[in-house]
Amino acid sequence: RRKVTIQRIQQMKETGTPIAMVTAYDYPTGRACEAYGVDITLVGDSLAQVCLGYDSTTRLTLPEMLHHIRAVARGSKNPLLVADMPFGSYQSGSEDTVRNAVRIIQEGGAEGVKLEGGEEIMESVRRLTRLGIPVMGHVGLLPQRHVASSGYRVQGKDTASASSILRAARAVEDAGAFAVVLEAMPSKLGEYISKRLRIPTIGIGAGSATDGQVLVWDDMMGTWNGHKAKFVRRFADAKAEHKRGVLEYVAAVRHRTFPAENESYDIEDGQWQRFLD
Ligand code: KIV
Ligand code: NA
Repeated sequence: RRKVTIQRIQQMKETGTPIAMVTAYDYPTGRACEAYGVDITLVGDSLAQVCLGYDSTTRLTLPEMLHHIRAVARGSKNPLLVADMPFGSYQSGSEDTVRNAVRIIQEGGAEGVKLEGGEEIMESVRRLTRLGIPVMGHVGLLPQRHVASSGYRVQGKDTASASSILRAARAVEDAGAFAVVLEAMPSKLGEYISKRLRIPTIGIGAGSATDGQVLVWDDMMGTWNGHKAKFVRRFADAKAEHKRGVLEYVAAVRHRTFPAENESYDIEDGQWQRFLD
């Protein structure tokens, strides 16, 4: 498979070819994205909840993020590799933002960074893109602001909210973002924004008319135990397989049916054998 580039992602929008993005958090999930035809691998800060057991993405630090980006990067080569800038790593001025984005690219091995927000992050987006660091925007439901917005709720249900999401999407496009995530909004709004932007939109809970879709790995695999959002489809039931496997393993250990003879090492007859007898 050919390397997925930003140009390719843009062409996919122009030719109406839907873009498939999935999150990955470690080497094996990165490998799976590589091997099975994913277009964009996202090291999302959902890492905080689904892999690290934090109750919010706001707990995730940049060093923790870098550790996982490095692992994903070793496995995911052909898909475009984007990583979330953790909460706090792009809020205290554009010098800091540049420094932290550079770490994500240089130490992590990501090819682009994703930032949540609209007009208020334009300066950072412009700065990064001018330096040649590709930026993906993220508007609508912003998990890094879940406390300020009183929970994880569908956005853009009234005119004021819808137009502020459109404004945010336009702001990041104007600032130079190469794509934008639209999270948790009515399908009609997802479609409206997708038609009005030149850059590709990647939807999650934004209906079927966006230029691409993204899902969190653990949501689509059925390995996430927490809340299942309306927009999640479980494409696999890996949790059931994990359960079956672990229960069988524990039982086999208890019954000494594991390991079997063909799973154990033999030694040739000789001195060593007699010594053991
Ligand atoms: O962190 C994440 O997984 C994300 C995607 C859901 C877009 O930001
Ligand atoms: Na995220």
